[in-house]
Amino acid sequence: ATDFSADIAAIRRLREARQALILAHNYQNDEIQDLADIVGDSLALSQAAAATAAPVIVFCGVHFMAESAAILSPDKTVLLPAETAGCPMAEMASADEVLRWRAKYPRAAVVAYVNSTAAVKAVSDYCCTSANAVKLVRRIPETELIFLPDQNLGRFVAEQVPEKTIHLWPGYCLTHHRVTAAELLRAKELHPDAPVLAHPECRSEVTALADFVGSTSQIIAYVREAAAAKFIIGTEMGIIHGLQQEHPGKTFYLLAPGLVCPNMKQTTVAKVRLALEQMAPAITVDPAVREPARRALDRMLAYV
Ligand code: 13P
Ligand code: SF4
Repeated sequence: ATDFSADIAAIRRLREARQALILAHNYQNDEIQDLADIVGDSLALSQAAAATAAPVIVFCGVHFMAESAAILSPDKTVLLPAETAGCPMAEMASADEVLRWRAKYPRAAVVAYVNSTAAVKAVSDYCCTSANAVKLVRRIPETELIFLPDQNLGRFVAEQVPEKTIHLWPGYCLTHHRVTAAELLRAKELHPDAPVLAHPECRSEVTALADFVGSTSQIIAYVREAAAAKFIIGTEMGIIHGLQQEHPGKTFYLLAPGLVCPNMKQTTVAKVRLALEQMAPAITVDPAVREPARRALDRMLAYV
């Protein structure tokens, strides 16, 4: 194993000196999860970013997550140690396209998955994460909506809330979308007594066969309550680190070897140290975009 101790000692000193809060998504490399103050899903991390008094947030995740933190806390310095870590799905919707869809479906409210750019959030009515999408869509007064950019999460929501008309955007997560039902069936054949826990970004052929479908933190909560000793994990491999630490006696199998998000893996201990040393790269959002984007995020935080 690589020895990160010098960098980690430097990060501890810098965290103190800068009064920084280090947030890490459940998909981050093991050593990043270990050094973070908070590890969580998109929802928990945006709530933490909105609530903290710390003047500096180090976001170990991908660009849209740091951008959401910058929208919620414009007076704080938000650092994204892996500057080029993006989410390809977030790039599958542009503000111009959203406006065209709005013109086509004038009565529809726009619900943007947080995996979207600030510019897209700014032309949306509500944000949601995979943890609260079903609840939010059920609760909002509008009965017709455009759900973007993830077609798989959108379809999952539509199945749970059949009383609403939902226009699905054709985006998808490269990592989750490539998992197939055949892979799930093979994993089940190998581990027949292990329930399959899948992220709603998986295709419907996969979620239809899963025993539980939820966000990363909902999957973690499910394992905490479950009696089973083995689990098949249908989301990005990084989640297994925390699961294994919390449940040393349980066994976790990754549903498919392709469940790796290369963007999430771009954050390294050296980059976190460098970000704290240089106070860069900092993510900022233009106030003209930030204000309307914030409305959509605030509505989410108020509804769920
Ligand atoms: P969660 O909100 O479930 O943490 O997922 C975020 C994400 O990027 C999934 O691919
Ligand atoms: Fe984006 Fe998929 Fe990576 Fe999540 S796992 S950050 S949706 S590419």
